[in-house]
Amino acid sequence: MTPVPQPIPFVDLHALHQPIQKELDAAIAQVLERGDFILGQAVRDFEAAFAQACDVEYGVGVACGTDAIALGLQACGIRKGDEVIVPANTFIATVIGVLHAEATPVLVDCDPHTALIDLDAVEQAITPRTRAILPVHLYGQVVSPRKLREIAAIHNLIIFEDAAQAHLGQRDGEIAGSIGMAAAFSFYPSKNLGTAGNGGMVVTQNPDVAERVRSLRNYGAPKKYVHVYRGTNSRLDTLQGTVLNVKLPYLGQWNQQRNHAAQTYDRRLSPLKELGVVPMRNDCGPGHVYHLYVIQVDSPHGNRDTLSQALAEQGIQTGIHYPIPCHLQPAYRNLGYSAGNFPVSEQLSEQILSLPMYPGLSDEDIERVVYAIKTHLSTSSSA
Ligand SMILES: Cc1ncc(COP(=O)(O)O)c(C=O)c1O
Repeated sequence: MTPVPQPIPFVDLHALHQPIQKELDAAIAQVLERGDFILGQAVRDFEAAFAQACDVEYGVGVACGTDAIALGLQACGIRKGDEVIVPANTFIATVIGVLHAEATPVLVDCDPHTALIDLDAVEQAITPRTRAILPVHLYGQVVSPRKLREIAAIHNLIIFEDAAQAHLGQRDGEIAGSIGMAAAFSFYPSKNLGTAGNGGMVVTQNPDVAERVRSLRNYGAPKKYVHVYRGTNSRLDTLQGTVLNVKLPYLGQWNQQRNHAAQTYDRRLSPLKELGVVPMRNDCGPGHVYHLYVIQVDSPHGNRDTLSQALAEQGIQTGIHYPIPCHLQPAYRNLGYSAGNFPVSEQLSEQILSLPMYPGLSDEDIERVVYAIKTHLSTSSSA
């Protein structure tokens, strides 16, 4: 009988939490003891600590990243009918956030080498109704702050960052979350900084924006029972805040481990270019925090789907981010887009594959993943 290969998961939260289990248990027990479950001390502590880590003054914890986009945009003054430019190649929550702010998402294509929003396409999509650009620091790679600011300054636009995949990511000395008027983060469990459920945050340098998000997340009430804004209930739970407080000090080293793993992948994969396997390009150097490690498979010897199947048979889990670009999602047909509108995003959606990536992924595991890719594409080519 052939031995079953040891599985390599896509993400390994157990390995991440096990060394800090005692710290997590103690912090959770403390909240249970104190009973300050809503907007308690741990939320305030985490808001201050995470804002400082992002090099901004204010952080306001909300229930999830999607709400961070919606409430953050509203707090920045985005109103019904305003156009907000977003990439077609992102998680659908970016678009949902814009729609929840009652604004109109205007989609643009992405760069074929990095998969980040195409900034030339952004310029072409600007109309008199455009109020904001919403760059997504996709896969952990930060969109160029210099180019974003150039475009925003010429056209008098707000920059609002979707930094859900780029905690502490950097480019040209600037940290994700500190580039625009405000930024949204998600603390979904598998993110670079994840909690034990849902969580999100708006970070900003602007005291008015911070104050408005604080009200919007709490029924629109700056003062108890005085509802100045049409808000909602979207608060970061104290239990989630306390988990994040424990994990934040480790984030820098976890990101370094991700970056190290990515460099190992890059080196090992480089000979596979001939087989049609190319990693997405890193234009951020060590500032790329590799929430995901994504390759493009454009090979006569096998396609993305056969490759992912072959890896699964070896116990290697993979993902696709994302298999359907936002403009082709059935629920958003009314945005008026159709197949062919964003050819780069459409092509990538058929060719990209996300390989296992997490802090603690060993060089041996990476070697096994690369060997399995090589074996599949070489075997298929001779078939
Ligand atoms: C790019 C991007 N934006 C927004 C979100 C939404 O975050 P959440 O799932 O916390 O609502 C996510 C993650 O899920 C994301 O990856």
